[in-house]
Amino acid sequence: MAGSRYNPCVAYIQSLYAPEDSLLKEISESLDSKRFNMQISAMEGKLLQLLLKMTGALKVLEIGTLVGYSSIWIARSLPEEGRLISIEKSEENYREARANILKAGLNNKVEIIQGDAALLLPGLGKYGPFDAAFIDANKTGYPLYLDLVYDLLRPGGLIIADNTLLFDSVISPQPPQADKSMWLAMRKFNEMLADTTRFEAILIPTAEGLSIAIKK
Ligand SMILES: C[S@@+](CC[C@H](N)C(=O)[O-])C[C@H]1O[C@@H](n2cnc3c(N)ncnc32)[C@H](O)[C@@H]1O
Repeated sequence: MAGSRYNPCVAYIQSLYAPEDSLLKEISESLDSKRFNMQISAMEGKLLQLLLKMTGALKVLEIGTLVGYSSIWIARSLPEEGRLISIEKSEENYREARANILKAGLNNKVEIIQGDAALLLPGLGKYGPFDAAFIDANKTGYPLYLDLVYDLLRPGGLIIADNTLLFDSVISPQPPQADKSMWLAMRKFNEMLADTTRFEAILIPTAEGLSIAIKK
């Protein structure tokens, strides 16, 4: 989520290193008013781009497109032959995302698939193996997505997941009453990613928490 955008340090960093062009600005502003900053921040978009470039990613998988803000950051970092497959459950978001990808001129690089990631991921083997995956959908699904993504990634493949601190609630020893299922899922996800037989990982304490890992 993009709440960190309002932190003055993040604003300074973004103005120097991650300025939005007019399309990203337009999408950002429409989401700020309609969908409560559900998209990543521009700073996180730039970080995704750098990580993907550093690892030479060509095939990328995204879970949770919303209206394509993060997809645009990702696809712009890929070389000509690079491909992004992005999954979005909501039909309304899917339609808006497709329009935004067209506006961005990225139609040849980005394929958005509409549906539930839990049902779609097992059938994505034909697109893989993927070099990287970005997990940013419903938080209760994260443990399952990690298992399914593991099978779709090449060894050494990159995993990035947003919101893994759950606004710091994940560090609490007991689940908050309001969102117990999210707390349980995120605790499980973080513990799965800390399993050094399968992953090498770190959780960066951004405002929402950003996990970065490689598949062993
Ligand atoms: C935080 S938003 C994604 C933001 C987007 N990555 C960005 O930064 O621009 C989460 C998205 O996941 C979608 N979503 C929720 N449950 C899903 C599921 N089971 N499968 C696929 N997408 C899902 C929601 O509809 C929502 O658009």
